[in-house]
Amino acid sequence: MKPDYEKNGVTLYCADCRDVLPALGKVDAVVTDPPYGIGLGGTNGIGGKHGLYLKPYVSYADTYENYIQQIVPALKMAIERADRAAVFIGPHIHELPKFDALGGVYCSSATARHQWGFKNFLPVLLYGTYPDLQNGAKFPTVLQSNETAESNGHPVPKPIGWMQWLVALTTRPAETILDPFMGSGTTGVACVRLGRKFIGIEIEPKYFDIAVRRIEAAMDETSLLDYAAKQEQMEIGA
Ligand SMILES: C[S@@+](CC[C@H](N)C(=O)[O-])C[C@H]1O[C@@H](n2cnc3c(N)ncnc32)[C@H](O)[C@@H]1O
Repeated sequence: MKPDYEKNGVTLYCADCRDVLPALGKVDAVVTDPPYGIGLGGTNGIGGKHGLYLKPYVSYADTYENYIQQIVPALKMAIERADRAAVFIGPHIHELPKFDALGGVYCSSATARHQWGFKNFLPVLLYGTYPDLQNGAKFPTVLQSNETAESNGHPVPKPIGWMQWLVALTTRPAETILDPFMGSGTTGVACVRLGRKFIGIEIEPKYFDIAVRRIEAAMDETSLLDYAAKQEQMEIGA
């Protein structure tokens, strides 16, 4: 399938990832935050009547049935194509392939609620091995963060610092990361900032456009920083 966007090591598809993944080759890592199958946006919101109200996705109905029929097979396909993977997960952990380690974000201020009350630990399933383990892992597999996500038109964007932590945890510079559930492109922004190549797939055109805008802004910001660093080097060398 032809990508809808290709520039500076970033390749983006506005499509159902189940149509794109079979033709994709190997990648170094998958870093993704898929739908959780928790009825996002129902009239009672997440977690039934005790939940928070969040806007629904436009192109995807976040029912448990769709999660099992669409998201789980797509995640399996993506993880199989990667040496390593980091996958944010909701309550349905048992449906996914067996993972090698459990990480997560501890947000002491609690970012959301589920049917047991405030939720202050968001799990991340880790597959494979830290890429430089012989040198000791540089990053912890649990991040403590009170960062909140920017409001960008997507119902549930992740904070950029969280995705930067996972990109740095799973890959070395210049490696390739795949996010088959790209949303507003936070993983892509993290990849551009940290010098990784990125392949992103998003089914909903409205979120895809937000992702392109954010990733291009990150490219501009990075090339400005590069330019400033080169100028500084020239001045030091002069
Ligand atoms: C939890 S959101 C990702 C949010 C993202 N981490 C961010 O920061 O914006 C999951 C996304 O998966 C998309 N999605 C659902 N089914 C999909 C499919 N089959 N192929 C591609 N994207 C899909 C939804 O439209 C939604 O934007």
